[in-house]
Amino acid sequence: MADPAARLNQPLLAALALQPHHTLLDLASGAGEPAITAAKDMNPAQGSEGGRVLASDLVPAMLAGARRRGAGVAALSFLAADMTALPLAPASVDRISCRFGLMFVPDAAGAVAEMHRVLRPGGIAALLCWGPKVGNTLFRLLDEALGGVPELAVLFRFAEEGALGRLFLDAGFDTVSETSLEQSALADPAKPFWRPTLDMAFTPALARMSAEGRAAVEDRIAAAVALETKLDGKIPVHLHARLLVAHK
Ligand SMILES: C[S@@+](CC[C@H](N)C(=O)[O-])C[C@H]1O[C@@H](n2cnc3c(N)ncnc32)[C@H](O)[C@@H]1O
Repeated sequence: MADPAARLNQPLLAALALQPHHTLLDLASGAGEPAITAAKDMNPAQGSEGGRVLASDLVPAMLAGARRRGAGVAALSFLAADMTALPLAPASVDRISCRFGLMFVPDAAGAVAEMHRVLRPGGIAALLCWGPKVGNTLFRLLDEALGGVPELAVLFRFAEEGALGRLFLDAGFDTVSETSLEQSALADPAKPFWRPTLDMAFTPALARMSAEGRAAVEDRIAAAVALETKLDGKIPVHLHARLLVAHK
């Protein structure tokens, strides 16, 4: 699924209109996206006052992965920080990005207020959150196979059209726009393309199950995959995200 995820990066980065001298703060970078892609594109000229990308995350262990993947990228640096209490001065960054991070923050309004505080006037924040579960094949299929997992609801916290926009307007941003982004890929049903999503998004539910329960879930996933496989032998996997772009 790296390919559709990378294609979601493109509109997110395009919305930021990054200039070579900008400082981009990437929040909830996890294993490093979109920070690493943005920093590679920045390519600061040696010795000049080049731009930089600050990859940040609440969990230092996540940033360890980002450090490995981003080794040698000159414009990239790292910051372990909670996005509701950023250790940065007011109006100190030109751009903010956040890919699939905001919905995990209980005080999302507090996080958006922090974005507004550290962004300079005229700056841009661009975020991606998941759209509705029905438009996200992997989450839908796996949730059904597990019989409905309550914790999954957090992923779709901003799935309703307009929810993100309201949050940013309430925080004092001047203009906001919200766009639906949809991507599709064809997966090979013979391969466990669903396993990374199962392991990442469904960990608490799996931990509550016995070994037999987990085996039964895998059987149900195999049955659902077979049912959704088309005549060409591939299974279409759709992603639906919401892109929020806010100007200060
Ligand atoms: C699904 S990952 C997204 C990673 C990456 N941006 C991507 O798109 O691949 C969500 C990340 O949000 C981080 N996170 C959760 N709460 C946070 C907070 N309060 N402040 C900063 N990061 C947070 C988690 O540690 C995790 O790395």
